[in-house]
Amino acid sequence: MSLSRPISSWPLRTRLVAATMALLALAFLVVGVTAVATLQKALYGRIDGQLAAAAKRAPYGMKSHGGPGDSDCDKPKSPTFPAGQAIGTLSVRVCDGVVKYAEVLCDEGQPKPDVAPYYSTLLTVQPGQPPTTYPLGELGDYRIVAQHMPDGAVLLTGLPLSDLQDTLYLVSGVVLGVMVLSLGGVAGGGTVIVRRTLRPLERVAATATKVSQLRLDKGEVELAQRVGEADTDPRTEVGRVGAALNRMLDHVGNALEVRHASETRVRQFVADASHELRTPLAAIRGYAELSRRTHEPVPPELEHILRRVESEAKRMGVLVDDLLLLARLDSGRPLAQKPVDLTAMLVDAVSDAHVLGPKHGWRLELPEEPVVVVGDAARLHQVVANLLANARTHTPEGTIVTASVALLENEAVLTVVDDGPGIPEALLPQVFERFARGDSSRSRKAGSSGLGLAIVQAVVAAHRGAVSVDSRPGRTAFTVRLPTSPR
Ligand SMILES: Nc1ncnc2c1ncn2[C@@H]1O[C@H](COP(=O)(O)OP(=O)(O)OP(=O)(O)O)[C@@H](O)[C@H]1O
Ligand SMILES: [Mg+2]
Repeated sequence: MSLSRPISSWPLRTRLVAATMALLALAFLVVGVTAVATLQKALYGRIDGQLAAAAKRAPYGMKSHGGPGDSDCDKPKSPTFPAGQAIGTLSVRVCDGVVKYAEVLCDEGQPKPDVAPYYSTLLTVQPGQPPTTYPLGELGDYRIVAQHMPDGAVLLTGLPLSDLQDTLYLVSGVVLGVMVLSLGGVAGGGTVIVRRTLRPLERVAATATKVSQLRLDKGEVELAQRVGEADTDPRTEVGRVGAALNRMLDHVGNALEVRHASETRVRQFVADASHELRTPLAAIRGYAELSRRTHEPVPPELEHILRRVESEAKRMGVLVDDLLLLARLDSGRPLAQKPVDLTAMLVDAVSDAHVLGPKHGWRLELPEEPVVVVGDAARLHQVVANLLANARTHTPEGTIVTASVALLENEAVLTVVDDGPGIPEALLPQVFERFARGDSSRSRKAGSSGLGLAIVQAVVAAHRGAVSVDSRPGRTAFTVRLPTSPR
C-alpha cells in the first residue's frame, strides 16, 4: 500500500493499526521525555549539592598558607586537593583576571590533563552565580562555581558532568529502545488482532461481492448467496450489517422472482398469441388467393383489394413468425446442436440475394477450407438472410455488398459489408432493438418491421456469439462472431 495515498483511502485494518501506533508513540514520548527530564533534574540537583560541598572544602587545599585568611593574592601557591574531593574535580585560582593555576584531580599515576586551552572560558566564571555548565573541550562539560578568597583571588571549583551525561544517555537510549521495540510489537500484534477482528466483515464483503457479480438484469436469477449465520449476530456491529444484507438479499430475491414471473407471463402471452394468429392468418391468405383464382369475373377494384389483403396477410405472417421466434429465443429454448457449414450457407444465401436484388453487386470472400460451427442451421441461415436483406432493402440499386466468412482462432467471423448510405446516426445505438427502424423504411410498402436485427442478435447470443455494427456513409459492416467449439 502506498503511503502517498490519502489516509481516507487506506484499508480500515491499516488505519486502525496506524492510529493505535500513533497514539502509543505519543504516550511513550510523553512518558519518556518526562522520565528523562525528571532524572536530569534530580541528577543536576545532586551534582550541584556535591559541587557546593566541594567548593566549601576547596580553600583548605592551599599548600602555602594552610587555609583561608592569607591576604596576598600574588603569593605563589600551588594547589593541593583537600581530602574528600572527588576524582575529576577542577580547581582554578584566578588573580586579577590571570589564571594562577588550574588543575584536575586525577588518580595517582594518571597523567594530568592540560587545562590551559580553556583559561578563556574559565575566566568568564563569575563568583556568586549559581552552578553553571561550561564546555571544556576534551575535558568534557563541567559544572563550575566561583568564590572570592580573602586574599582577593577567585577560586573556581568544578565537577565533571561526564558520569551524569552517560547516565542520561543510557536512560534515554533504553527508553527509546523499549519504545521502538514496543511499537514494533504493537504493530505486529495489532495487525493480527485487527485482521482477526475484521475477518467477519471481510466475509460479509465477500458475499456482497459475489452478489454484485451475478447477472441480475434479466432472466431467472437464483439469488442463493447469503451471509453465514455466524456473521449475523445482532449483538455485534458486523452481525447487524450481515443481517441487514441478508434481509436486503431476501427482498431483492423476491423482487427478481416476481419480475421473472411477469416476464415469463408476457413471453408466454406473445408466444401463444403469435401461435394462435398463425392459423387464421394462413386462412385469410388462402381465402384471398382462392377468391382471386375464381373463374367468375371479378371487378378490377375488388381484385386489387384481394391482392392487398393477401400481401398484408403474408406480411403479418412473417411478423408473427418473427415474434414467435423471439419469444422462443427469450425463453431460452434449446437450439439444435449440429455442425453447420457457414461457407456453404453463405454461398446459398448470397445466390438467393442475387435473385432478389439483381441490380445490386454481390461479392463473396471465402476461405479455402469450409468454416464449420455447431448450432442451428435454420436459425443461422436466418441471421445471414436478414443481414443480406438489409443490405439489399436499405441501400440503393448499384450498391456493392460483400459477404465473407473466415476462421480466426476459435471463432468463425462472418461479415456483411455494403457501400450504401449507412445507418442513420440517431438509429445506430439502438439498431439491434426490437422495432427499431430507419425513417426511410417506415413505409408499409417496404414491408419492414424492425425485427430483423433483433432476431440476428438473439440467435447469435443463443449461439454464445456476438454481433456488432460499424456504419458510416459509404460503408456499413455487420460482423458476427461465433465460437467454433461446441458448448
Ligand atoms: N445495411 C444497412 N444499410 C442502411 N441501413 C440499414 C442497414 N441495415 C439496417 N439498417 C437500418 O436499420 C434498421 C433496422 O433493421 P432491421 O433489420 O432490424 O429492421 P428492418 O430491416 O427495418 O425490418 P425487418 O428486417 O424486420 O423487415 C432498418 O430499418 C434500417 O434503417
Ligand atoms: Mg431487416
